[in-house]
Amino acid sequence: MKPTNNRKNEHVSLAEKFAKETRKSDFDSFRFVHHSFPEMSVADAAISTSFATLDMDSPFYINAITGGSSWTKKVNEKLALIARETGIAMATGSISAALKDPSVKDSFTIIRETNPNGKLFANLGAGQTLENAKKAVDLIQADALQIHINSPQEIIMPEGDRDFSNWLTDLEKIVQQVSVPVIVKEVGFGMSRETIQQLSSIGVQTIDISGQGGTNFAQIENYRRVSDKFDYLEDWGQSTVISLIEAQPFIDKIEILASGGIRDPLDIVKSLALGARAVGISGLFLHMALRDGVEATILEVNAWKKQIASIMTLLGKKSINDLNQTDVILLGEVKDWCDVRNID
Ligand code: FNR
Repeated sequence: MKPTNNRKNEHVSLAEKFAKETRKSDFDSFRFVHHSFPEMSVADAAISTSFATLDMDSPFYINAITGGSSWTKKVNEKLALIARETGIAMATGSISAALKDPSVKDSFTIIRETNPNGKLFANLGAGQTLENAKKAVDLIQADALQIHINSPQEIIMPEGDRDFSNWLTDLEKIVQQVSVPVIVKEVGFGMSRETIQQLSSIGVQTIDISGQGGTNFAQIENYRRVSDKFDYLEDWGQSTVISLIEAQPFIDKIEILASGGIRDPLDIVKSLALGARAVGISGLFLHMALRDGVEATILEVNAWKKQIASIMTLLGKKSINDLNQTDVILLGEVKDWCDVRNID
């Protein structure tokens, strides 16, 4: 039985409860035009990438999920094993739980212990002090720090923050003074070009637009509310595809990462074709790790790497950078969004 006596446990079990095998996605409104002559071999396709000053063998990673309880320690150990055996990067869940209660530190440190040489990102929420940011990095000897921005989640979370007055100024201090690269991320509500502009203006160089379409924290926090539910906010935010479209003016200036509702290698390649340097996956990898186990997930992750190279070959693209020049068609609501927001 999955315990549900603590928020971190509830987030994992509710993400699982609401996870759907297949769902309609804006990725389906983004189609590649098929051309019949790839003019290359699968062996020519290189799937390596780089961001946050780190070189990565794969263009996808395990995005922030959990930590903060004994059950989530076990979940993190499984995820860390998957990351270690496949060589993909991994983020922790928010380390604020361990800063408040040192007795749960081991639910995060297990990740570094399991994967001593892996590329790891520490995660914290906005509104944290520089000192806490440094502590989070030190706790797991992180290679980069993710700071999540999640105002809709906080608003709907019964015990969430209600004051967002200083998020940008607090963030600016961290970005300028922490010793590792900082990745600012959403948590599944997506970003607008105005948000990306604000982050750029305070010196943020790597942004995960983490859009709507997968794990839905409006739904999860709503479920945790006893009364005064915000049912009507469960569709709040921009999808991952729309957020990547919003990011287009910044693609050459800022490292854009994608996450939110990634279902398969094709969604990864579509995100890369929209200019993402790499793609994060939380809900689906969590689901695979818990449902199928570590060994099966390792096989699946390795299969995804090969499939990404195969799809790149179909597109005639030898590198992740080249993927940015593919012929694509936008349909339906995604196209309408571009028209209304004046994006070509
Ligand atoms: C998350 N996510 C998350 N993000 C973050 O920055 N800090 C966190 O602590 C958490 N916690 C968390 C718990 C669980 C159980 C899940 C599934 C996810 C959000 C995550 O990193 C990502 O932005 C969204 O989940 C969207 O991606 P997926 O899940 O649709 O692939």
